[in-house]
Amino acid sequence: HRAEPCTVVIFGATGDLTNRKLIPALYNVAVEGDLPPQFKVVGFARRDKSDDVFRKELEEGNRKNSRQGHNDELWASFSQSIHYHRSEFEDLDGYKALADLLNKFDEERGAPANRLFYLASAPEAFKPILEMLRAAGLNQGVGGKWARVVCEKPFGKDLKSARALNETVAATFEEKDTYRIDHYLGKETAQNIMVLRFANALFEPNWNSRYIDHVQITCAENLGMEGGRGGYYDTAGALRDMVQNHLFQLLSLVAMEPPTDLSADSVRDEKVKVIRALRPLVGPEAVGANIIRAQYTAGSVDGVPRVGYRQEDRVNPESQTEAYVALRLFIDTWRWQGVPFYIRVGKQLPKKATEISVHFKRPPQVPFATARLPGSSENTLVIRIQPDEGIALRILAKQPGQALSMQQVKMDFRYSSSFGKASPEAYERLLLDAMAGDATLFARRDEVESAWKFIDELENAWHKSDTPPPMCEYPAGSWGPKEADDLLRQDGREWRTL
Ligand code: BG6
Repeated sequence: HRAEPCTVVIFGATGDLTNRKLIPALYNVAVEGDLPPQFKVVGFARRDKSDDVFRKELEEGNRKNSRQGHNDELWASFSQSIHYHRSEFEDLDGYKALADLLNKFDEERGAPANRLFYLASAPEAFKPILEMLRAAGLNQGVGGKWARVVCEKPFGKDLKSARALNETVAATFEEKDTYRIDHYLGKETAQNIMVLRFANALFEPNWNSRYIDHVQITCAENLGMEGGRGGYYDTAGALRDMVQNHLFQLLSLVAMEPPTDLSADSVRDEKVKVIRALRPLVGPEAVGANIIRAQYTAGSVDGVPRVGYRQEDRVNPESQTEAYVALRLFIDTWRWQGVPFYIRVGKQLPKKATEISVHFKRPPQVPFATARLPGSSENTLVIRIQPDEGIALRILAKQPGQALSMQQVKMDFRYSSSFGKASPEAYERLLLDAMAGDATLFARRDEVESAWKFIDELENAWHKSDTPPPMCEYPAGSWGPKEADDLLRQDGREWRTL
């Protein structure tokens, strides 16, 4: 597929995402020569500023955040495509003026262009922006060209708000023109999960409850609430911020049935079935027994002292929001009967690392009567999503020498050494896909709503019951609360050491 010529309008263009991710992604796409011809970006935001000032700010962001560095000459030509448009999000006149601006660009080009509207504003503004786009007629393509919308996260904060937002989106754009971002799907290694599973004869036959003991997904971050993030985060928490979207997407890719083809809907049909098959956890008792929530207390990460979650900037000192969550989930399908999926995600953990580990069952019998199996001896397939992208397989081998003793050894594939070049950033891939009309790596309406349906029950048990499960604690810089270790210990298992 190819990105088609278009103008991208970014709402909330003075925000952090535009500066840190979106513009550097577009710049890198330009450096690679993949940007469609006659491309333009319009930043739409409330503050007054000129094109020049806007470009200068983005240039600074690009210097810091561009994956392939910053080249003055390339930037000079790329930045000519960037414009700024000032308006309130609720002001119809601002959208009419935007339409005039887009028409003017079309005249300069000599032909109408496609239009991609990117909602990167605060989530409260999504609804008015969509309504105003419709009122100004901008939701319709001109001259046979398309108009599409990209929605950043968070997509709602529960099922009710997600449904309401989906209604507003659906009243403005067709589902086929709607692209709900989950940037984890844009990560190269997340896309590789399907290739690993369905293009290698070695793995798929073993990928089920007969051979797999359990699966772990860890998403650790060594950051807290820097850069004012506490304000948003404290209204969300780890479950809403990370599990409902990113972790459930990874879970779906690991657990889905093979799709019949690689079209957007075939893949998403299979992914949503995984979420629908999650065994429901309803009520504080079931939730307490399977889900551990926690906040960090003061500690240190990488030798740097950190304050506790409740002492963070813009966090309520009595906050009941979790900065860490560990889950034990079951997927009620034939393939996964009885196989636990353990997920943990948290802030202020010792390092940044996202990985999936598939732990295989032990052989039914080991024919070396005198040899003892070492402690952690199961075959484990580790998919490193980030950093140090790659896949490792741990197997048992005989130690050299007269005696028969065994040791776990590692076979390792690393993206950086096997391919010799850095993978594109998630946003590069996703922006190009949206411009090319490929929605495979975007969340569909039913996926988002099914995920919220499951998450709502957990949030209810925590926040709407008289006997909520406890909020646990862990010192910043540790691997989470001891209750999360107990969760696996009860099952005779332990978290993988990262
Ligand atoms: C975002 C969350 O979606 O993902 C953040 O809102 C989190 O809280 C971020 O830090 C992590 O993304 P990545 O790509 O750095 O793993």
